Amino acid sequence: MPENEQATDNDEAIELLKKAYLDELETVMNYLTNSIVLDGVRAEEIKGSLQEDIQEELGHAEQIGQRLKQLDEVPPGSADFQANQANLQPPEDSTSVISVIEGVIEAEEDAIETYRALVDAAEEANDPVTEDLAVTLLGDEEAHRAEFRGFRKEYKND
Ligand SMILES: [Fe+2]
Ligand SMILES: [Fe+2]
Repeated sequence: MPENEQATDNDEAIELLKKAYLDELETVMNYLTNSIVLDGVRAEEIKGSLQEDIQEELGHAEQIGQRLKQLDEVPPGSADFQANQANLQPPEDSTSVISVIEGVIEAEEDAIETYRALVDAAEEANDPVTEDLAVTLLGDEEAHRAEFRGFRKEYKND
């Protein structure tokens, strides 16, 4: 395959890697904020879970950034950042744990969609290393979603 053809084939996977990198960093920002602002006895478990996930999501961003570098690309800086997580802003009522749970589930759904698209794009581009990374990250996000779906079930049963 000619060199520039390979580069063209990679475009979609690279764009998705850059998008995922910024999405992970927005997730870190909002999980951190919500882990700080929530109040109440019932918020403690959610705050603890968010604190654990912050480290995981930051790790995701780092792995994606390293993969971009391996592909001779530069991970984006803040000038390329556009906020998307409207439903993960700190709630007006700091005891509204359920609104944060709903926001987390939505953010995890978005990440799942991005990594599914990345699996397909990387396979299409014949890039098994990026595909393998996307599969791993997809599994992590599905686990996060399952955890917060469990929290939501508990809150809805009250
Ligand atoms: Fe993540
Ligand atoms: Fe996640």
